[in-house]
Amino acid sequence: MTMTANNARADNTSADNTGAAKTRAAKVTAEVLEAFAGTPDARVRELLMSLISHVHAFAAETELTTREWMAGLEFLTAVGQKCDDQRQEFILLSDVLGLSSLVETLNGPEGATESTVLGPFYLPGAPHKELGESIGRPQDGEPTLIRGRVTAIDGEPIDGATLDVWQCASNGLYDIQDPDQPPFNLRGVFTTGADGGYSFRTVRPVSYPVPVDGPVGTVFRLTNRHHWRAAHVHAIVGAPGYQAVTTHIFDAANPYNDSDAVFGVRGSLIQEFRPAGPADPPGVTQVVEVDFVLAPAVG
Ligand SMILES: [Fe+2]
Repeated sequence: MTMTANNARADNTSADNTGAAKTRAAKVTAEVLEAFAGTPDARVRELLMSLISHVHAFAAETELTTREWMAGLEFLTAVGQKCDDQRQEFILLSDVLGLSSLVETLNGPEGATESTVLGPFYLPGAPHKELGESIGRPQDGEPTLIRGRVTAIDGEPIDGATLDVWQCASNGLYDIQDPDQPPFNLRGVFTTGADGGYSFRTVRPVSYPVPVDGPVGTVFRLTNRHHWRAAHVHAIVGAPGYQAVTTHIFDAANPYNDSDAVFGVRGSLIQEFRPAGPADPPGVTQVVEVDFVLAPAVG
């Protein structure tokens, strides 16, 4: 009986404290929101007010402890410290939490090729190449031809559209991860002709593990998730007067299309790679046809 009474008393005390703490917490949130309410720029105000509301609600709902709060700050500090001019751990974190995929989904125009994550391995300044040229070396993997057209939503071909493409080699590594690859290996920029057509040679993409040697690796270890990406070729396709789309070409034969580590797979972006035939250009063993559709620029 005594134990029961004591426990009941303890529970009541805890409940009272929790209730009082929540009341005080709500006052803190209200005070902070009021302090930011005068932000002159309407969009900045909207973003900040919403961010504060959600972050405070997260802490309140989970009854975040001081130790957990500090662990979170130390984690974000480590994410920042892992970044350099070639490693972008914050993009990787955003990808792994599905935020990148969500933002791309929210911003993709209707009728255009679906967008998906940029990923942490994009490098601006890839070399411009002639149509049909290769972006890689023979030792990089199975020689593959990718070709198609870039059109507007109404089907009109877009002359002068650019495709900035990049991918990893068959060892699962991008050039910036692999000292045995030359700079800008498996990267290139192509420009469509008057018919909107493009073609380039590369290698068949392979699955690769996202880097887990940094703080984002902890997320995978804590959650028992695998860290493999579905095989893909990256592309940013754009043209003057049109919205550029950041997208992927996925391989229908890949086993990770249903469990991509960064939630990047869209059904519409999965393509059939087929064996090359006599009518195809020599020197390739796989061919995939991929058309891209661009929406008009806003404004
Ligand atoms: Fe990638």
